[in-house]
Amino acid sequence: MDSRMARYLITSAIPYINGIKHLGTLIGSQLPADLYARYMRARGHEVMFICATDEHGTPAELAAAKAGKPVAEFCAEMHGVQAQIAKGFRLSFDHFGRSSSPQNHAMTQYFAGKLADNGLIQEVTEEQVYSKADGRFLPDRYIEGTCPNCGYDRARGDQCENCTKQLNPTELIDPRSAISGSTDLEVRQTKHLYLRQSALKDDLDAWIDAKTDWPVLTTSIAKKWLHDGDGLRDRGITRDLDWGVPVKNGDKEWPGMEGKVFYVWFDAPIEYIAGTREWADAAGRPDADWQRWWRTDMGADDVTYVQFMGKDNVPFHTLSFPATIMGSNEPWKLVDYIKSFNFLNYDGGQFSTSQGRGVFLDQALEILPADYWRWWLLSHAPETSDSEFTWEQFQTDVNKDLADVLGNFVSRVTKFCRSKFGEAVPEGGENGPDEIALIERLKSGLATYEAHMQAMEIRKAAGELRALWVAGNEYLQVTQPWAVFKTDPDRAAAVIRLSLNLIRFYAVLSAPFIPDASASMLSALKTEDDNWPDDLDAALTTLPAGHTFEVPEVLFAKITDDQRAEWQERFAGTRD
Ligand code: 2FM
Ligand code: ZN
Repeated sequence: MDSRMARYLITSAIPYINGIKHLGTLIGSQLPADLYARYMRARGHEVMFICATDEHGTPAELAAAKAGKPVAEFCAEMHGVQAQIAKGFRLSFDHFGRSSSPQNHAMTQYFAGKLADNGLIQEVTEEQVYSKADGRFLPDRYIEGTCPNCGYDRARGDQCENCTKQLNPTELIDPRSAISGSTDLEVRQTKHLYLRQSALKDDLDAWIDAKTDWPVLTTSIAKKWLHDGDGLRDRGITRDLDWGVPVKNGDKEWPGMEGKVFYVWFDAPIEYIAGTREWADAAGRPDADWQRWWRTDMGADDVTYVQFMGKDNVPFHTLSFPATIMGSNEPWKLVDYIKSFNFLNYDGGQFSTSQGRGVFLDQALEILPADYWRWWLLSHAPETSDSEFTWEQFQTDVNKDLADVLGNFVSRVTKFCRSKFGEAVPEGGENGPDEIALIERLKSGLATYEAHMQAMEIRKAAGELRALWVAGNEYLQVTQPWAVFKTDPDRAAAVIRLSLNLIRFYAVLSAPFIPDASASMLSALKTEDDNWPDDLDAALTTLPAGHTFEVPEVLFAKITDDQRAEWQERFAGTRD
């Protein structure tokens, strides 16, 4: 085993089950997490990459009702759909789990039991809105009304989408049931469990303070929640719903909590752990195999745990989930680094699942292969501020970076070689000053690229990768093999031999961004050697003279103006 080999546990925020996601969700967590997982694997590290669907809570129930299906059936179906789309985008999860799994039921009940043992759960009798017409309580999104803060008339019981204020259902003005529209509502008393986060405030504060290397976006949100207003509030972690993880204390009943379930935000992050357990169970592996990722007493102390998520998820991952872990008083792994993202906007507005606005992931894959989306989204990742998807920008960038720069290099080199030397790496000639200069440039560029990838500076990494592709084109401009061939074919052979090796180098470096194109490049070069170029000189002579290849199909066809116009129109409205 390579002594530098390390272990990386990588999780992406788990998308709600309520519908097919859009490009904004993809770039907000799953895609960057995949980039990092692929990179770490390529560097020889051991990676566990977990994602899942977030299947509980009112969004799931409401979406199932809208689809006219029982919620369990709806979730099973939508999980399949989301898994298929993840495959389409080449998201390389080790496991894509379900928060409704038996493993997550057990883990969630287990953590609740531990928190209770440690005095961190309080039973609170509180007032909730009850709908007589629906015969049920109306938590969270089951109730709508006017926001007491901004006057928006479609605010939900948990939050106002317009001003983002967190709300309690009883605070809404003119409330109505989101199920039946009934206004025949009354406030009734009901008992719930509260997680005493406030008791852990100092521990959480100290823990965040020690994370000096975290992105400011992450720590500033955490600090705001810790210190703003009345500070970290205790939170209700149960709901009067049918669908969800039944409230239990470990595997024992919880007196007085019969018929209630845990709140979706309590069980969702626990699914990161349960998902890893699902992975082990599915492969018939022993518990020790998942525990070595999560329990520091089972070997997880040498694991680096990185979470990816959109900024709206940060409070739950910097405060609530760590409170669950710390409060358990058991040696579970806490996150080491949180990479969070701003939002991607769509053509002057917001992407919205609930309003059907933007490009949805199934539609995106219908019109273009995954690599186009992967490249554009990653190279425009909303890291330092919100970023914007426009069709013009997408067309321009993709055509330039993928077709004109990378695709063109591959095509020119392989076609020229075929016409002058045949489909094999040519022999003759040797490296001169131009080659030495290029190799120097590649060495420093590779080091920069590695540093950015390690630091999850995604846009910068994409920029450096693009610069390395440009360097190859510039090298061809300078060396002019097609002109030189007429007078000095050996010199042209040396240039093309290095260039063919450069294609392999690009395939390896680019794979985390554009895995399919990378695979096509390697397959055209008839090599399976995708080793990272730790020794660059050796990497650039991997394909020796005489090694055969074939000219690949066009790697990236350009997006035409007609296509752009058609898509712009097709995706201008909303979909149901
Ligand atoms: O924002 C969302 O899509 C949530 N479903 C994310 C949950 S992440 C975690 F808690 F599991
Ligand atoms: Zn509001």
